[in-house]
Amino acid sequence: MVKICCIGAGYVGGPTMAVIARKFPKIEVVVVDISVPWITAWNSDQLPIYEPGLNDVVKQCRGRYLFFSTDVEKHVVEADIIFVSVNTPTKTRGLGVGKAVDLTYWESAARMIADVSKSDKIVVEKSTVPVKTAEAIKKILTHNRKGINYQILSNPEFLAEGTAIDDLFTPDRVLIRSRETPVVLKIFYAHWVLNTES
Ligand SMILES: NC(=O)c1ccc[n+]([C@@H]2O[C@H](COP(=O)([O-])OP(=O)(O)OC[C@H]3O[C@@H](n4cnc5c(N)ncnc54)[C@H](O)[C@@H]3O)[C@@H](O)[C@H]2O)c1
Repeated sequence: MVKICCIGAGYVGGPTMAVIARKFPKIEVVVVDISVPWITAWNSDQLPIYEPGLNDVVKQCRGRYLFFSTDVEKHVVEADIIFVSVNTPTKTRGLGVGKAVDLTYWESAARMIADVSKSDKIVVEKSTVPVKTAEAIKKILTHNRKGINYQILSNPEFLAEGTAIDDLFTPDRVLIRSRETPVVLKIFYAHWVLNTES
């Protein structure tokens, strides 16, 4: 069974993975986060965020093929595809203050992936990051030369809070960029958005 792990159970990671799980019941989707209260809420009847339609989607999938966990490393190790949907705030100090994106959380997630992975991974950037971040991330992922192959795809999210679930079920655009051929993600979205068989 293909396994997806999404790092970051926030406004993007949670709803996006819930819709993926709903669309692909044969794939195990685990959303992980370092925030215990946030994951506890995702596993309760009081979800941490409100989006019209989100409750129903989570109820249909949670515990069957959608899971929420704080065991970040375990699920990263087991995943074939890792979505990274961590926060990328604007820098509050240093070069580019008030303008540039602070990639601290992204880089820390990439270092953790590199440290724990034992098999090839497709890593999907869901966070909003500057152009060429994928190259920097690839350097972090491959720095310890464990012979693991990483395919890095950029797939930024455009959903708007308030209409996230509708936007996810029927997106008006899907952007995928990669230096390699992003075959897996293309098949994935073809099934998701165009309803073709994968
Ligand atoms: N919120 C939106 O409407 C929206 C829309 C489009 C794009 N985006 C972009 O999507 C990305 C995610 O945004 P969001 O609103 O979901 O952020 P968020 O702050 O709601 O969630 C991010 C989560 O990542 C977790 N996290 C950070 N580092 C981690 C790590 N190393 N391991 C595990 N968990 C970790 C945090 O605890 C947090 O819960 C950002 O780049 C944002 O700019 C957001």
